[in-house]
Amino acid sequence: MASEETPKAGPSHVAIIMDGNGRWATSRGKPRLFGHHAGAKRVREIVEACPEVGVKYLTIFAFSTENWKRTQSEVAGLMSLFRRYITAEAKALNKKGVCVRFIGDRVRLDPKLVKLMDDLEELTADNTSVNLTIALNYGGRDEVARAIKRVAQDAASGVIDADSVDESTLTRYLDTRVLPDPDLVIRTSGEARISNFLLWQSAYSEYEFIDTLWPDFTAEIFADIIENYGGRERRFGAVLSET
Ligand code: IPE
Ligand code: IPE
Ligand code: MG
Repeated sequence: MASEETPKAGPSHVAIIMDGNGRWATSRGKPRLFGHHAGAKRVREIVEACPEVGVKYLTIFAFSTENWKRTQSEVAGLMSLFRRYITAEAKALNKKGVCVRFIGDRVRLDPKLVKLMDDLEELTADNTSVNLTIALNYGGRDEVARAIKRVAQDAASGVIDADSVDESTLTRYLDTRVLPDPDLVIRTSGEARISNFLLWQSAYSEYEFIDTLWPDFTAEIFADIIENYGGRERRFGAVLSET
C-alpha cells in the first residue's frame, strides 16, 4: 500500500436546512418576508457552486409541514414567493443542466403552485449536472406515514407481500426514492436540531450546524464546509481501524 493517505471523498449529497431568514430581517427592522426574499436569492449561488465542489445532489428545506402554524400573511407570502421563484428561475436552472425535484405532500398546496412544480420537474427531468431537490410542505414523519399508508394499501391489494416488507421496501415508498441518503446535513442560524427534516434518510449523515443566517450564506462558506467534511471518518457502526 502507498504510504500517503488517499484523500477522503467529499459529500455527494448535501442537504441544507435554510434557517434564519426571519431573524435576519428583524435585525434590520424589516418584515420577515423581506428575509425570505433575501434567502431565496442565495439559492442560485449555492446550486451553481455544487459542480465546483463535487456535490451531485443538493436538497434544500424550503417549507415544513409545521410551517403552516405561522401567521396567515407569512404563509401566503411564502407561497407566493415559491410561485415567483419557480417562474423566475426555471429557465436558468434548465440552462445550467439542473434536474429539479420536489419532495413533500402536494395535496395541501395551491394547484397553481403544484402545476409550476410539475412543469419544472418535467422540463428538467433529463438534466444531469446537479440534482436539486426542494422540500416543500415536507415533514420527515409525514413522509414516513404517507409511505407506510401506501405500503399497507399495496399489501392489502396483493401488490406486495407483507412478510417481505423491510427497510429497502420503505425506502422505495418515500418521496426521496430516487435519491441517495444525504452524506452531510447543514443547518444555518445556530439552531442545533433537525426540525423533522429527512428523518429516515439522515440516520448516518454528518451534521454541520453553523451560526450564519441563511441570507448571509455564501458559496465560500459552502466550500469551506465541504472541505472540512473531507476530514471526517464515517464508520456506519463498524470499527474501521484498531486504535
Ligand atoms: C427559514 O427561516 C425559512 C422557513 C422556515 C420558511 P425562518 O423563517 O425560520 O427564520 P427564523 O428562524 O425565524 O429566523
Ligand atoms: C425548519 O426551520 C424548516 C425550514 C427551514 C423550512 P424552522 O424555523 O421552521 O424550525 P424550528 O421551528 O426552529 O424548529
Ligand atoms: Mg427558523
